[in-house]
Amino acid sequence: MLTWDEQVTPSSKPAPLPLASAVPGVQASLSGAVPSSSPSEVKASPASGARRVNAADKRIINGQTDVNQLVPFKYKWAWEKYLATCANHWMPQEVNMSRDIALWKDPNGLTEDERRIVKRNLGFFVTADSLAANNIVLGTYRHITAPECRQFLLRQAFEEAIHTHAYQYIVESLGLDESEIFNAYNEVQSIRDKDQFLIPFIEAIMDPNFHTGTPETDQRLLKSLIVFACLMEGLFFYVGFTQILALGRQNKMTGAAEQYQYILRDESMHCNFGIDLINAIKMENPLLWTAEFKAEIKELFLKAVELEYRYAEDTMPRGVLGMNASMFKGYLRYIANRRATQIGLEPMFPNEENPFPWMSEMIDLKKERNFFETRVIEYQTGGALSWD
Ligand SMILES: [Fe+2]
Ligand SMILES: [Fe+2]
Repeated sequence: MLTWDEQVTPSSKPAPLPLASAVPGVQASLSGAVPSSSPSEVKASPASGARRVNAADKRIINGQTDVNQLVPFKYKWAWEKYLATCANHWMPQEVNMSRDIALWKDPNGLTEDERRIVKRNLGFFVTADSLAANNIVLGTYRHITAPECRQFLLRQAFEEAIHTHAYQYIVESLGLDESEIFNAYNEVQSIRDKDQFLIPFIEAIMDPNFHTGTPETDQRLLKSLIVFACLMEGLFFYVGFTQILALGRQNKMTGAAEQYQYILRDESMHCNFGIDLINAIKMENPLLWTAEFKAEIKELFLKAVELEYRYAEDTMPRGVLGMNASMFKGYLRYIANRRATQIGLEPMFPNEENPFPWMSEMIDLKKERNFFETRVIEYQTGGALSWD
């Protein structure tokens, strides 16, 4: 798969259209003129007089081209990621949960610390993916003016719904107290702190009065995209994923671990798409990437590592499954370094190494882009496995 810098060519920002509406993303939909850097190549439609879309005119944000026309492609990386996510389709009810149910019901099946990990995990994730979906649908989507990127976001929104479904399915299968789990983001401090860190960045771009188009508002959107891709999907999910996959490696909660593996694979793609999006916006709008802005982003990274570390401490007050909270300090720093360098920042914690090499084997952070080359399951249309 090509990287963003192989596919996005920098070009100057088009002049705004006189006919542009105040609503981002729909301004040139049916109304007519589309600007072009090569007017001689643009043909007029006989019916409306509208100009045809020139790929070179497309922009990730503040674009003026018709968002209803997927092609001609400019951002092929986005389209390829959309195809890859579709090829990876799965549904929660395809995973057999019968062994998990038997283990959970067996009083000696799991230790109290292991049960705490499962409940804390679900407590965070049952609402986290709804936050993610709402952020895309009500926030990010309308500010992105490249239809191939919107196509990915539509698919991503559905995948977030599948993830929420998967967590709900695990809660229901195990017969957990739904009210306790779904209210954890209000009632468990370490979870609440993570969500309270995220919510202002989500609300900022959901505000109906928020529009991009100035350096300040463009930076606000970019910051929100960085928080969402690098810190929420790219960092806040990783303690939880590691814990459940560690249980699975010990042949415990194998159904839940299988679901988490599929979710992790999806999230790796979401995170990589978000990073490509961020880098493409940076390339098209280099003036946004100021020293002050970078310093602000660095502070957010440091805060997120701290919050996720506190979550690790809360979820594992003692050593469990061959892991302890302090091992996560190194792991989170290692991941934060990777996210930082992926968006062009210096590593924040030099010389950190991955304390969980087995996680690398499972998700292989360095090969996330190739994660989809082998399918884990064959998706059966309309299929549902019975495990009663
Ligand atoms: Fe998700
Ligand atoms: Fe996601």
